[in-house]
Amino acid sequence: MRVARPADKAIPFDRIRAVEWENDHIKLIDQRVLPGKLEHVYVDTLGGAAEAIRLMVVRGAPAIGITAAYAVVLGARDRYRENPKNWREALKSDLDFLSAARPTAVNLRWAIERMHRLAETIDGNPVAQLLEEAQRIHSEDIAANHRIGELGAALIEPGSSVLTHCNAGALATGGYGTALGVVRAAVTSGRVFGVFANETRPWLQGSRLTAWELLQEGIPVTLTADSAAATLMRQGRIRWVIVGADRIAANGDVANKIGTYALALAARQHGVKFMVAAPISTIDLETPSGADIPIEVRAGEEVMEFAGQRTAPEGAHAWNPAFDITPAELIDAIVTENGVIEHPQARTLARLVGKKG
Ligand code: MRU
Repeated sequence: MRVARPADKAIPFDRIRAVEWENDHIKLIDQRVLPGKLEHVYVDTLGGAAEAIRLMVVRGAPAIGITAAYAVVLGARDRYRENPKNWREALKSDLDFLSAARPTAVNLRWAIERMHRLAETIDGNPVAQLLEEAQRIHSEDIAANHRIGELGAALIEPGSSVLTHCNAGALATGGYGTALGVVRAAVTSGRVFGVFANETRPWLQGSRLTAWELLQEGIPVTLTADSAAATLMRQGRIRWVIVGADRIAANGDVANKIGTYALALAARQHGVKFMVAAPISTIDLETPSGADIPIEVRAGEEVMEFAGQRTAPEGAHAWNPAFDITPAELIDAIVTENGVIEHPQARTLARLVGKKG
């Protein structure tokens, strides 16, 4: 089962698109059923897009933001049809509803605010202009990832092996990926020859999505139980941990998939470098520190079941935070399309956001 899209001639390993706009619909790869089935879900209302985000048909911070941008087009189309004079009023509460679909990834809010700012300026039917903006958000994200890949790969010593966590790949973005963009670029340039992927309990983004995505591109991958990471580091088998981010606070603290913090602690202990790859849209200068980032807590069933099969005894309870905070001092490099900062601090991060890429 392979993705049919022809490879971009200029950029190797860039074939997968999790989100597409097709015939007035949002077309999403259904990430709940990978790797067993490659199926698409077609969404044609703003409410349907919010549901797809909530249920994790589409997930990963930038992919959520892009889906939301297209959702604003659908919402504006429907509100304009209902009431061409006051569509903006009705859309406002739709946008609040959409924003609440998942709380941690700031790209959701970022994309909605960008679309809303444009909507405020439009006279007449808003669809064409909003669609253009959503497509711009989408193509900018892909271009950012190509640049992140290039910049991140340049930090890696030739002949290295790396470890990634969750899925920060094409499936989580407009295309190419952030952490997996770095992996793709580093494999292309011969810097990386071995990729380890944590399975990423409990939703298994690593084994279900990262392994699938890399194998689609012909990049070999070795899966590890999350709990094997420290031993892998102790044995000197990896040089870098490379992860994405759901939100980077103003002081450089990073929210990412649960387990990222433990990896950063183990990496520091073993002299392994720790890289966060993310677009500028993931940096939230309005959130002072990691302590201020809302962390989504998901249903306990995700922990107590495996592939729909109960694995915990009746009566057990589970705590299931979907993300954790890695403090800035454990991060060696943040790689964005605007450039790289080593050992992030509030001052350097703010400068990076203000810089032209
Ligand atoms: O719960 P998910 O699968 O949406 O979590 C995704 C992650 O934590 C990713 O690492 C992050 O969104 C960055 S994706 C480029």
